Amino acid sequence: MASRGLPRALRMARVAAPRPVVSTALPRPALAKAARAAVPRMAVNAPVRGVKTMAFADSKETVYERDDWPRAKLQEYFKNDTLALIGYGSQGHGQGLNLRDQGLNVIVGVRKDGASWKEAVQDGWIPGKNLFDVNTAVEKGTVIMNLLSDAAQSETWPTLRPMITKGKTLYFSHGFSPVFKNLTNVDVPKDVDVILVAPKGSGRTVRSLFREGRGINSSIAVYQDVTGKAKERAIAMGVAVGSGYLYETTFEKEVYSDLYGERGCLMGGIHGMFLAQYEVLRERGHTPSEAFNETVEEATQSLYPLIGANGMDWMYAACSTTARRGAIDWSSRFRDNLKPLFNELYDSVAAGKETQRALDYNSQPDYRQKYEKEMQDIRDLEIWRAGKAVRSLRPENQK
Ligand SMILES: NC(=O)c1ccc[n+]([C@@H]2O[C@H](COP(=O)([O-])OP(=O)(O)OC[C@H]3O[C@@H](n4cnc5c(N)ncnc54)[C@H](OP(=O)(O)O)[C@@H]3O)[C@@H](O)[C@H]2O)c1
Repeated sequence: MASRGLPRALRMARVAAPRPVVSTALPRPALAKAARAAVPRMAVNAPVRGVKTMAFADSKETVYERDDWPRAKLQEYFKNDTLALIGYGSQGHGQGLNLRDQGLNVIVGVRKDGASWKEAVQDGWIPGKNLFDVNTAVEKGTVIMNLLSDAAQSETWPTLRPMITKGKTLYFSHGFSPVFKNLTNVDVPKDVDVILVAPKGSGRTVRSLFREGRGINSSIAVYQDVTGKAKERAIAMGVAVGSGYLYETTFEKEVYSDLYGERGCLMGGIHGMFLAQYEVLRERGHTPSEAFNETVEEATQSLYPLIGANGMDWMYAACSTTARRGAIDWSSRFRDNLKPLFNELYDSVAAGKETQRALDYNSQPDYRQKYEKEMQDIRDLEIWRAGKAVRSLRPENQK
């Protein structure tokens, strides 16, 4: 399919009412732009706006934003706190470095001399000063940020629970452990606030967007409010770890939608769709490069960024009338055929089957080696080997 330049009507509309420049490399919702245009940036000492209610399609929702929590205010708010971040995977890395750059008192707790310990040392965390084993960090912390893998949260809970004492705050980035407590055994102590900040993206993006002076979208939620301040703390923590906009949800809604989305359109579903399309093209005699370009390269380099920037109609409008006609006709066929599978997936999430699978698999001592083998199997697929060759031709990859 050949995409083409913007049709004349759209080009004219753009001239008449210029849209804000949007990075197609890292698209973010129109919300951020609309909000910024609607509300002037506040001075550091101006009164706090707090809540912003916005219409998303036909629903009114509440959004909190970074501009209400400038760095000086965060430092004042957390001046008596030790933020103990345990686990240094993708989220631990991104959130931890952002907290450190915000000038907050943050310490990291990981298994001594494990892969994360080494990575933390490389990132400048100093053993005995702000890098400790997990138990020591939890003892020292007032806000316990549980960023261990979800399986490890369950495994370590019997040891950690007694150290999460009255007055501390328990923080998660996924509702997984408390929501599925029947499977994880993570029964939170009754006398602490329990909050969630779940960045909607990889920890690497949490870090890169923060460094660019932007912020990732995150969900926030309160599971237990003992002090009456849990929501405020969730918002402050959300901004502190590098979020731009915070969307309110519940622990349960967060974990259901997240487990569902990553198995669906975000990762599993899209990989499955790429494979199915590629395999049919190859079986019908197309070359690997043609099959890859028509399945992945054009999608990621040309069309998906257009969807990210301005929506599906914007992408359709940028393509030929032939392409548009066929895509409109076939999209409903795909939706109708895939919807039963998505319902099956949601049922599996809600029944706890996906949780049990993650706990069983990721608590094996050799889970990292097993994943590495699966990643190697993916790298070895013809589609991704063809992709490597296609990418090597990009100007930025030429020596
Ligand atoms: N990654 C994302 O994109 C993302 C996005 C939003 C929310 N989240 C949530 O954020 C949390 C952290 O996820 P993540 O992806 O950053 O990390 P992860 O890769 O799932 O977990 C890695 C961390 O867990 C530690 N760990 C594993 N088994 C352990 C054990 N038995 N005892 C002690 N430590 C153990 C690892 O330490 P070692 O190196 O010592 O093994 C490492 O520091 C999860 O709740 C996840 O659902 C993740």
